[in-house]
Amino acid sequence: MKKFVLFTITLIGFLTAAAFALDHSQMHEMMMEQGGHKTDSRTELKMPEPMKVMHKEIMRKHMDTVSEITAALAGNELERAAAIATKDLGWSDMQEKMCAMFGDSAGDKDFFALGKAMHTKADALADAAVKGDRDKALTYLSQLVKKCNACHERFRH
Ligand code: HEC
Repeated sequence: MKKFVLFTITLIGFLTAAAFALDHSQMHEMMMEQGGHKTDSRTELKMPEPMKVMHKEIMRKHMDTVSEITAALAGNELERAAAIATKDLGWSDMQEKMCAMFGDSAGDKDFFALGKAMHTKADALADAAVKGDRDKALTYLSQLVKKCNACHERFRH
């Protein structure tokens, strides 16, 4: 019995190690497929930690807003989709100030331009939705998400 328990424990240990080794080699393979070891070459937003925390909160809110707009469009609630897009993502004095402030910390004009491109896409989406054109609004939604990522590809914390 003692031998059996010992054998089982050894076996479990061995399998766990094998599973880890497999994960590790799979991970290595994936990294190689992506072009090997890379450093993050995106431009850093040089701001104090509390500002980073605030910025990330805003980002998560953006993600939530995209989800709410998607749900409204899926439910054919076009007025609601438009209202959310305008209020939470549309271009405004407030958004302009925010994008300018975060852009300054990156020391790169592209940040502001990429931010504005994303927010104005939300306005285009709202316009299409108000006019009852759900297909067009959905096309803008897809383009909006691409605009989010265009900035993520250029900038980091
Ligand atoms: C003008 C630049 C810019 C735009 C536009 C932008 N983001 Fe970001 N976002 C960033 C940066 C910079 C980070 C930090 C990324 C990093 O350090 O890896 C970030 C991080 C995030 C994160 C991670 C938050 C966390 O808690 O870690 C989410 C989610 C996110 N963005 C969602 C969005 C969504 C959704 C949109 C579009 C509706 C969007 N972002 C548009 C710059 C941008």
